[in-house]
Amino acid sequence: MLTLRCLFAMVFVACGVRDTADPSRVADCPHDPPLTWSSFGQGHLEKHCNGCHSSLLPEPMRNGAPLSVDFDTREAVVNQVDRVRARALGDAPTMPPGGGPSALELELFDEWLRCDIEPDAVGDASR
Ligand code: HEC
Repeated sequence: MLTLRCLFAMVFVACGVRDTADPSRVADCPHDPPLTWSSFGQGHLEKHCNGCHSSLLPEPMRNGAPLSVDFDTREAVVNQVDRVRARALGDAPTMPPGGGPSALELELFDEWLRCDIEPDAVGDASR
């Protein structure tokens, strides 16, 4: 029992040290706890995208947003993340069409895609 507890403590400490001591990880994904669908992504997409891109919207209410391009689920974002990044981030984002997200929101959106969504999209057939 004592051995098991020691092992557990060692593993725990080792993980903790690695997580906080790796400067590249902290620089790339500074949020701890990390940004997730629930803590950031869903709210951001609802605020800035799903007025046009929700699967709940019938065609006449989508302001021209293509019928298959919806962002109501994390999986939908994973499957289209390359297009989401291309349109909503970068030097001159073209989505939402009239702009809207603040510089801070764009920074957080970029971090969320990079740290939570894009790792799951690696190897996706659509990439
Ligand atoms: C006011 C309505 C509106 C809002 C809000 C909006 N879009 Fe769009 N979106 C459109 C329209 C219209 C099109 C089709 C025309 C085009 O591609 O420019 C489109 C197309 C797209 C496409 C598919 C085209 C491609 O390049 O693959 C993506 C991806 C996209 N939008 C992402 C987003 C994201 C991400 C947001 C939020 C950050 C967003 N949009 C917010 C109206 C909107």
